[in-house]
Amino acid sequence: MPRTVFFETFGCQMNTADSEAMLTALRRAGWQPTEDVESADLVVFNTCAVRDHAEAKVRSRLGLLRELKQRRPQLRIALAGCMAQREGRALLARHPQLDLVVGTSQFSRLPELVERLHEEPRIAALDFEDWDERERADVEPAPGVNAFVPIMRGCNYTCTYCVVPMTRGREQSRRPEAIEAEVRRLVAAGYRQVTLLGQTVDAYGKTLGDGTTLAGLLRRLHAIDGLLRIRFVTSHPKDITDELLATIAELPKVARHLHVPAQSGSDRILRLMGRRYTSDEYLRLVERARRFVPDIELVSDFIVGFPTESDDDYAATERLLDRVGFAAAFVFMYSPRPGTPATRLADDVPEPVKRERCQRLLERQLAQQEAQHRALLGSVLPVLFEGPSKTDPGMLFGRSAGQRAVIAPRDDALIGRIVPVRIARCTALTLYGDPLP
Ligand code: SAH
Ligand code: SF4
Ligand code: F3S
Repeated sequence: MPRTVFFETFGCQMNTADSEAMLTALRRAGWQPTEDVESADLVVFNTCAVRDHAEAKVRSRLGLLRELKQRRPQLRIALAGCMAQREGRALLARHPQLDLVVGTSQFSRLPELVERLHEEPRIAALDFEDWDERERADVEPAPGVNAFVPIMRGCNYTCTYCVVPMTRGREQSRRPEAIEAEVRRLVAAGYRQVTLLGQTVDAYGKTLGDGTTLAGLLRRLHAIDGLLRIRFVTSHPKDITDELLATIAELPKVARHLHVPAQSGSDRILRLMGRRYTSDEYLRLVERARRFVPDIELVSDFIVGFPTESDDDYAATERLLDRVGFAAAFVFMYSPRPGTPATRLADDVPEPVKRERCQRLLERQLAQQEAQHRALLGSVLPVLFEGPSKTDPGMLFGRSAGQRAVIAPRDDALIGRIVPVRIARCTALTLYGDPLP
């Protein structure tokens, strides 16, 4: 009988990519994935620590597993990723049902650590280590059109609210040759789009100290036959160079899309957040991006309810949102993270106020998005179809050359191809259209 593993991934796309690496390593060691937690020999949660809500979900899953483990003591339970890194051994102390805690640079050792549990009952593997290319060798991403490819790891910024520098460590970039080799392998295996991942992906190459840049990497990957689209997330406003913008403009395979979080429109709050730009500087970046790439779609994250955020500060965020006209925005309520500098400030914006600002900003954004979508009715967009729609398997899901979700009647021959689609209907979140012959 093969041993089976139940896997669940929380958090960002980086975690999705890390889970694919862990699953590949486990498969090679003889494990088989299962959807049935009741019968699994091993349960792995790849966790996120960015807001308390993300950790609360994992705590509640662990509670459920406690009872399962009482019934089946041979079950092994592992926590990997950012929450594991943040809380470390304290997790083992607090959750007796937990066997293994695996930090963010120990993923590839997961199969070996599970074996070691035979001799050593409870293990925490949390050391930060240099990026090891072996970790990405032969990783099999989830089947489909898109593959996630981490190109850097960690973050050298110090945004005061953010746990990522603690959980992912210092910034490290992979060698461009190694990334190119991985992407060539993925394209040969049938993937048609890669999404390059990094916390500040536009800073890619800095730590290599030899002039390597994201723009250079995009050029290298653009030359790969069979690769249709290249995406990259997430960018920091300070690291977007003219060279990068000119490269996006020049290379047709690079998505017309920048995920470049503004976080707030208030200069006072931006300073307290340690973001290293003012709202004016952000607006100038937007202008510069649109000068180089007129059809670029800008996407932002916002945090509302940061300590001391007044009605006026919040109003400044609405003004920024209105002035830019983002193609999408993610809005989060501030969540204090233990050990981050912002916890020196009282979390003084009441929960109902945070909630109201969050809803208001989202509604404002959705109204803008709907207007943008209406303006696209009747136009023809080049859509890369990725597969059946998750919400309606009778339809196909794809994305425009920017990042807009496009739904069309199902025709599996279109999957993995860029097809012109005439937009016929829309909501604030989705475009609906018909592929042209
Ligand atoms: N490296 C990326 C993403 C970091 S986490 C970047 O710098 O853009 C993703 C988003 O979560 C952030 O952009 C921010 O908007 C939000 N976030 C991070 N820490 C948070 C916190 N403590 N409370 C609420 N939202 C937070
Ligand atoms: Fe966190 Fe700031 Fe780094 Fe993004 S740039 S990961 S928000 S510290
Ligand atoms: Fe969460 Fe870690 Fe990603 S904290 S957002 S899983 S980098």
